[in-house]
Amino acid sequence: MSSKITIIGAGSVGSTIAYTLSNQDIASEIVLIDINKEKVAGEVMDIIQGTCFRDPINIKAGEYEDAKDSNIVIITSGIARKPGQTRIELAQTNVNILKDITPKIVKEAPNALYVIVSNPVDIMTYVFTKISGLPENQVVGSGTILDTARLRCGLAEHFDIAQKNIHAYVFGEHGDTSFIPWSRAHISCANIDEYTTLMNNIGKEIPTLDKDAMLEYVQKSGGKIIANKGATFYAVSASVCRLCGLLLSAYDSTATVSSMMHGEYGIDDVCLSTLSMIGPNGLKGKVPVPLTDEEVEKLKKSADALKSVIAQIEL
Ligand code: LAC
Repeated sequence: MSSKITIIGAGSVGSTIAYTLSNQDIASEIVLIDINKEKVAGEVMDIIQGTCFRDPINIKAGEYEDAKDSNIVIITSGIARKPGQTRIELAQTNVNILKDITPKIVKEAPNALYVIVSNPVDIMTYVFTKISGLPENQVVGSGTILDTARLRCGLAEHFDIAQKNIHAYVFGEHGDTSFIPWSRAHISCANIDEYTTLMNNIGKEIPTLDKDAMLEYVQKSGGKIIANKGATFYAVSASVCRLCGLLLSAYDSTATVSSMMHGEYGIDDVCLSTLSMIGPNGLKGKVPVPLTDEEVEKLKKSADALKSVIAQIEL
């Protein structure tokens, strides 16, 4: 595939995205940009030297000009969450960094699809959507694609079933107010409770799922990994690479990504994740999946939490 992907920020997340892409057939050209020239040169050298076991791929450390004609630009810049810090506490610092980067990169790559990864990702996606001047179809935040991956991982383990048979999603903020619309969660073609009964009927004993504990597992995973090893980067990178693959594919797909709300579920002027349609031309829009009243309330709570942060930051 001849696609060019530029990654801004060569920290753990940006570099691991570049490394993950270097092991897949999503991009033929990867540009990694960072203000720390030594670090980015080292990362690129390390990644290139591992590519001799695959078909040629062009990877380089670059400047903003090198982002020209990118199909996708991924923004990972920002200070990472420290142990104990919430994503929201990071907001103003990372918004300031984003305000500096945005005009420089958009000038060079005005037609690229932009994937915002920096945390707090929903706030950063909102700010980028507002200040970039780009059409909204060109902007998505990685949102709860990672939380959804964590949910599928947890459910696969609980139900002892391949992740590809699980269709369950995390909606809302990539953070403490996210929630799982269980009314929409399926394993194969059965809902979660039906599936448990079906399995028990054929002699595969499955304990009753503790849904609150599963949500807690999803929400606390990032913090737990940071507490254990100082940062999270593998699963987020795998999720972002998957997202790039969907954006560069010939057909549309659904995924939970963060984007601007325009009245869906009664929510406006905030970015968060619900099921969205994405494909070759970027974001096609939110898929208006019916939710229960209780689930809509949870989504509104998540929107309100994000809006209160937006109200506190200087744009
Ligand atoms: C996490 C970080 C990327 O949840 O927010 O792993």
